[in-house]
Amino acid sequence: MKSPKEVYVCSQCDFQSPKWYGQCPSCHAWNTFQKETYQPAVSGTIKSGQRAVSREKAVPFSEMESVDCPRMLTGIGELDRVLGGGLVPGSAVLLAGEPGIGKSTLLMQLCGRAGQAYKILYISGEESRGQLKLRAKRLGVDGSDVLVLTETDVDAAIAEYDRISPDVVIVDSIQTMVSDGSASSAGSTTQVRECASRFIRCAKADGVAVIMVGHVNKEGGIAGPKVLEHMVDAVLSFEGERSQSYRIVRAVKNRYGSTNEIGVFEMTDTGLSEVDNPSEMLLAGRPTGVSGTCAVCTMEGTRPIIVEIQALVTPTSYPAPRRVADGIDYNRMCLLLAVLEKRLGLRFSSSDVYLNVVGGLRIDEPAADAAIALALCSSIKDIPVPHDMIVVGEVGLSGEVRAVSFARERAKEAVRVGFAKAALPKRGLARHPVDVEGCSLYPLGGVYDLLVLLSKGVPKKKDKEL
Ligand code: TYD
Ligand code: MG
Repeated sequence: MKSPKEVYVCSQCDFQSPKWYGQCPSCHAWNTFQKETYQPAVSGTIKSGQRAVSREKAVPFSEMESVDCPRMLTGIGELDRVLGGGLVPGSAVLLAGEPGIGKSTLLMQLCGRAGQAYKILYISGEESRGQLKLRAKRLGVDGSDVLVLTETDVDAAIAEYDRISPDVVIVDSIQTMVSDGSASSAGSTTQVRECASRFIRCAKADGVAVIMVGHVNKEGGIAGPKVLEHMVDAVLSFEGERSQSYRIVRAVKNRYGSTNEIGVFEMTDTGLSEVDNPSEMLLAGRPTGVSGTCAVCTMEGTRPIIVEIQALVTPTSYPAPRRVADGIDYNRMCLLLAVLEKRLGLRFSSSDVYLNVVGGLRIDEPAADAAIALALCSSIKDIPVPHDMIVVGEVGLSGEVRAVSFARERAKEAVRVGFAKAALPKRGLARHPVDVEGCSLYPLGGVYDLLVLLSKGVPKKKDKEL
């Protein structure tokens, strides 16, 4: 047996070097090098000059048998949707998210729902049995047959796994697992890689579905080596503001389904509850006849969601006006304000501007530009946007409104939720006509057309009528 060797590993890109660097020569990240110890493999029996014999023969596609991919339903519809129709036996899923976002809660609810149909082993390295029982009681799943193991040693966990032979294994979290074979501390790149590969090997060999919880680092990326994301079949990211009750599970990678699909949940005092119609939930209690609010339809994966954007523009009393954006990129807001000021002559430079996306959702899509711009125009002019209208379009620096994808799907969702008007980019309509029953179209060529929309506005309500 050879003696253990030391190596420095970049925690971002997995670059290895015998000496320490302040900046990684490969990915140029700073302070990412960690010392790790590994056991060099004993060299094989093949001598130089000899060739190994492949045990598997290459076969053409035409001779390969297709296997249908059965699904194990988790019982949580929104999670099944993100997974592409349920868990696949023999697959490994990584569920990553900020601390306290609800990863353990979601998985425990999964145990409660799927525990009857499948044998589930829940390996927890983070919480004691007492804590788990308390949470299970709170979620109403303490009566289920799920087998719980509080263990951080991967060898002991796998020995127990072999004894039980479950259908589903949940590892909460992969960063707490340690393997004796590797001398570095828990959560280090080598440990995470080693432990994850042990579980993934079990998944592939025995046709078991493995779900691993992954921590995220300060920058929001998944902690541990990037190779972890390559090793698993699906990466789900759990997002949301801890102060808000909405949670979104997003598929970042999925070998068995489409990516960018999302599942929407609401955190309640009895756990996460599924939200089937996010648009309706986000629009509930929307005020009518007030200036500064505009509805937009954004695409979250393949699912259109209607959200309300609110703007408040008030005369400033500061030398440098205030700009506050919540749920929208700050620089995007500044860009839109500059475009509106230059192209429409609206005097935002002497006003404070506050922007908010209702419900705590974050909109990254440029297709929301036109709605943000219209909410701003509506507020500065104090004219309400027609209440039953959604506005979609990307605004360019010359003030033109550019085409967006999925215009038809957005209009359809608008009609489903009760909207009757859709302002869409003129440029896209020529190539992809939108013919949705019950939806009148308002083509947008440039930002000037937004002012035209406002002239069709409904009479403003008096403040006491709100
Ligand atoms: P948890 O699942 O422990 O987060 P993670 O495993 O991602 O770190 O979630 C903990 C948070 O969820 C905690 O702040 C309390 C909240 N919570 C509820 O609001 N309702 C509930 O029923 C449960 C179990 C947790
Ligand atoms: Mg947890």
